[in-house]
Amino acid sequence: MTPRLIPVTPANLSPTAHELEASWDALTAEELRRRGSLKWTVEPGVIGAWVAEMDLGTAPAVTAVLEHAVRDSAFGYTSPVLNQALREATARYQREVHDWRVEAEDVLALPDVLSALRAIIARHTPEGSAVIVPTPAYMPFLRIPGELDRELIAVPARRTRVSADAAAGWALDLDAIEAAMAAGAGLLVLCHPWNPVGRVLTHEELDAVAALSTRYGVSVFSDEIHGPLVLDPTLAHTPYASRPGTDPDLTFTATAASKGWNIPGLKCAQLVVSGEARRSWESSALSRNLSNQGAGIGAMATIAAYDEGREWIEAVRRYVRATAGEVEQVLSAAGVGVTRPEGTYLAWLDLSGTAAAASPARFLLERARVAVNDGVTFGRGFESFARLNLAAPRPLALETASRIAQALA
Ligand SMILES: Cc1ncc(COP(=O)(O)O)c(C=O)c1O
Repeated sequence: MTPRLIPVTPANLSPTAHELEASWDALTAEELRRRGSLKWTVEPGVIGAWVAEMDLGTAPAVTAVLEHAVRDSAFGYTSPVLNQALREATARYQREVHDWRVEAEDVLALPDVLSALRAIIARHTPEGSAVIVPTPAYMPFLRIPGELDRELIAVPARRTRVSADAAAGWALDLDAIEAAMAAGAGLLVLCHPWNPVGRVLTHEELDAVAALSTRYGVSVFSDEIHGPLVLDPTLAHTPYASRPGTDPDLTFTATAASKGWNIPGLKCAQLVVSGEARRSWESSALSRNLSNQGAGIGAMATIAAYDEGREWIEAVRRYVRATAGEVEQVLSAAGVGVTRPEGTYLAWLDLSGTAAAASPARFLLERARVAVNDGVTFGRGFESFARLNLAAPRPLALETASRIAQALA
């Protein structure tokens, strides 16, 4: 029998966007510190704007399902029944929201995205082959190949249009990616949308990557954890694997509700994989067993997010987008080059030419009492950049921006 996973509590499930925004605006730094998140507790007494966690809570439908799980003491191991419901909800979400025809049987449960990347490098790429990572890159992408005794080939982004607010100015260097593939690399790690520059890759870019992957027989790991967070209403997230030119045998896609619905601590992600890549995955015990290592309550929360949390995340996207515009105005006026994200809730700040250029995160921590991520951790060449988390109560995000502006003045 399939257990009832979604409790029916309609009164809790639909606050208006206005009510949500008012509740987010009202959150204080003191309250966020009290909640004890990583973002707010590592550097005491400062504004936490670094690690990719949101201050905006989660969807009421997710809270409801978790309250239900608490009442049921549903804290056991995850189960095939829960995993199956997760696979179906993921396929439904991808079909209905991203227009990607995914079969539930091609969705596999994971505890998190990075465990899949580790398994793919260790078990599903040619032994000893290098890993290509476009930079600036989410920091673990730069670390994991070396941990597995693989060479990292960092491919710095091409700057196509240097303008203050143009995420579109950061592009994949397809020539350098091709050269690395031709030289025998075994995997390309795509981050789509791209943390930290907030790019939503175009169909043309995705198709060019697919053509290179096919030509050189090199697998692609497409990390689409930020897919639900496309902020620009004129853009849409197109899953890499949904493009007609991609070869299923060479394609691994990772998704999760963990960024969009702010539940990374609940340990649940998904791998979408078919064809030869799926057979290869199933043939490895290390990879296969990852499906048993997620949290049951993470699966419940993810199902609620995908099925019932779509209006909530729409309100989040609108709120963060408006915040990003206001933060950009303040920072641009202070001489910071702001890459406003097309997707993700992360702004990429160019502090070159400012007093913070030599050591942005330390400068902003000491002088502005704001914790951001240092550019150098995203790859060589980004020493004068910093990543700023915009998923904050808007008054706090604006206080962050004005503290930075004052510190640079
Ligand atoms: C692009 C990207 N991938 C993966 C992760 C981590 O995902 P997980 O906790 O599922 O490994 C993050 C977290 O910020 C991220 O930004």
